[in-house]
Amino acid sequence: MFGRSRKPAPHKKYTRKVPSVMALHKHPIHPMLVVFPIAFLGTMLLTDLAWLLLREEFWAVVSFWLNIGGLVMGVVAGAFGMGDFLILREVRNHVSAWSHFIAAVMLLALAAAGVWLRWPDPVAAVWPWGLLLSAVTAGAVMVVGWLGGTLSFRHGIGVYGEKPPPPDAEGNTPAAE
Ligand code: HEM
Repeated sequence: MFGRSRKPAPHKKYTRKVPSVMALHKHPIHPMLVVFPIAFLGTMLLTDLAWLLLREEFWAVVSFWLNIGGLVMGVVAGAFGMGDFLILREVRNHVSAWSHFIAAVMLLALAAAGVWLRWPDPVAAVWPWGLLLSAVTAGAVMVVGWLGGTLSFRHGIGVYGEKPPPPDAEGNTPAAE
C-alpha cells in the first residue's frame, strides 16, 4: 500500500544525489524554511472556519497575521529555493522543478492577494472571499509541498553524500550497500 516500491531496474539502484548550494553545513536551507509558509497558510483555512463558526474577531485577526507571516516566510523560503533552481542545472532539468516553481509563484500570489483583501478590515474580509481564498491557498500549499517533496525524495535534490560510481559498459551502476 503506502510506500510500496517496485524492484528498481539495475541502472536505477542508486538514488541520485544533488547537494544543495543554498545550504548550511550541507543542510539545504529551503526545506528548513518551507515549514513556516506551509503551516501558516494551511492553518489560515482553519482559523477562517473558526471565525465562521464562532464569530469571534480574534480568529479573523489570527487569519490576518497567519496570512502576512505565510507571505513573508514564503518569499524568504522561495528565495533560497530559487538559488538552487538557478545555480544547479540538474535541478532545472526536472519537469517537477519547473512545476514546483510555477505553483510556488502562484501560491505566493494567492498569499499576496489574501493580504491585500484582509488589510483594510480583517474581520469583514473573511466572508465570503477570505474563506474562499484561504481554501484555494490551502489546496495550492498541498500541490507545492507535494512537488517539492518529489524534488527532494524522488530526485534527491538537496541530498548530500557520495556520488554513485560511473555506470559500466552496459549502463548498470552497482547496487548501493
Ligand atoms: C512558499 C513557497 C514554497 C513552498 C511551500 C515550497 C515547498 C517545498 C518543499 C516541501 C520541498 C521539499 C523539501 C522538504 O520536504 O523538506 C521543496 C524543495 C525544493 N524547492 Fe520549494 N517551496 C516553495 C518555493 C520554492 C521556490 C519559489 C523555488 C524556486 C524555484 C523552490 C525550489 C525548490 C528546490 C530547488 C527544492 C529542492 C530542495 C532544495 O534544493 O532546497 N521552492 N520545496
